[in-house]
Amino acid sequence: MVATSQTTGEGWSSRSAFILAAVGAAVGLGNIWRFPTLAGESGGGAFVIFYIACVFLLGLPLVLAEIFIGRVGQTDAVGSIRKVSQESKASPSWSIFGGVGAIAAFLIVSFYSVVAGWVLYYAGVMGLDLIQAIGAGEPFRGALAGESQEQIQQRLGDMFASPSLLLAMHFAFMGLTLYIVARGVSSGIEKAATYLMPMFFVLLVGLVVYGAIEGDIGDAMAFLFTPDWSKLTPQVMNSALGQALFSLSLGVAGLITYGSYIKEKSNLGSTAAMIAVADTSVALLAGLMIFPIVFAVGLDPAAGPTLVFQTLPFAFQTMPGGALFGFLFFVLILVAAVTSSISLLEVPTAWGIGERGWSRTKSALIFGIGAFLIGILCLLGYNVLSDVRPLGFWSLFENTDILDTVDGFTGKVMLPVGALLTSLFIGWKADTNLLRTTTGLSPLAFNVWRFLLAWLCPLAVTVILVTGLFPGILGA
Ligand code: PFF
Repeated sequence: MVATSQTTGEGWSSRSAFILAAVGAAVGLGNIWRFPTLAGESGGGAFVIFYIACVFLLGLPLVLAEIFIGRVGQTDAVGSIRKVSQESKASPSWSIFGGVGAIAAFLIVSFYSVVAGWVLYYAGVMGLDLIQAIGAGEPFRGALAGESQEQIQQRLGDMFASPSLLLAMHFAFMGLTLYIVARGVSSGIEKAATYLMPMFFVLLVGLVVYGAIEGDIGDAMAFLFTPDWSKLTPQVMNSALGQALFSLSLGVAGLITYGSYIKEKSNLGSTAAMIAVADTSVALLAGLMIFPIVFAVGLDPAAGPTLVFQTLPFAFQTMPGGALFGFLFFVLILVAAVTSSISLLEVPTAWGIGERGWSRTKSALIFGIGAFLIGILCLLGYNVLSDVRPLGFWSLFENTDILDTVDGFTGKVMLPVGALLTSLFIGWKADTNLLRTTTGLSPLAFNVWRFLLAWLCPLAVTVILVTGLFPGILGA
């Protein structure tokens, strides 16, 4: 590793460009696919309320911590942490957690692209169905007319059974991600966020209104916001904490990397708050979009990961305008996934530029192709390699296929470790004056922030880590 990092000199064109890109990074499959899945499985209200508490007490302080490191460092995550260490007279070894983050981001993007590929396939299926509906002069009919519920469910199994279909979708999605990242910060990532995020919000609001009109919004509100505290088991708390980290893109140095492209002095506290509020609002809106539709048709909210791929397409079949809105729904998820996957690939890419001196194109290609190859193993785990258990020697991953192993290992181990080290570093090691002047927080807000980072975050994140690794502790 070279001693000093190179700065790429790249940067956001404005504060709002940064906010848009960072919200784009945060809002992704985690909000629209994982959050409603977990809320549904965990019984709704109590999970949702605990989740919101996690976001603001643990997530928000960490968002600000990561942006701070990037803002001061002005280079990739490893180099940025090294710079803050130097200015704080702390050991440069702290920069290792930037490296762990970059590896985690690299691994996450490999399977994220595979899952986004499923969404791409469904967008294609629904798009073709919409074209047929329009051709038949019935643009407002339900989706997938004439298919039975079994046939609709079977589509997912058929897709998983086809390596070539999964590969083609994964290739298309990773190719797009790589293309945007290789174009650079302002002409690639920022441009993508400026076009895609407004489109995302219009689609989201449109679909929430659709769900409210055609679906059962009352039942959905009651499900999401009426807490039954007996359902708040330690496992549910653990998954809410983990989901808060994942959804805010924490622990993988993503916000350090994006923060390093902030050039002007700005109020980092309010910027961080905007990111946390926007991300949480989108997760809640996603719940308010999905559950009215699920309840209207009398389906099971606790369907799990297949909720979006099997339950919803069937619901769209029975609803007026389902062909159109079903298609828009998958486009919405796709848009959210693109702006997140580019932020994931950007973390190792920036490392290659900053620490290795590679050109942006070379770095993006190396990590993009590397992640693509790991993704191929993940998708083969659904068919040809379905017997493979990469960490089968570890009881936690005994029965876990390739994709879920990469997901589980990054989510349960690497992400909490990254978040833990970030909170310890900023809570205890970083120079107080540097923190004060860079963040621009009021004295009260500053003290609360530092306290949460020094005490609550390490404690809570250690709990996620330990209970995640040893689920027996929770009496599972
Ligand atoms: N926050 C993204 C989501 O909710 O889908 C996932 C993610 C993106 C995690 C970027 C980490 C990251 F750096």
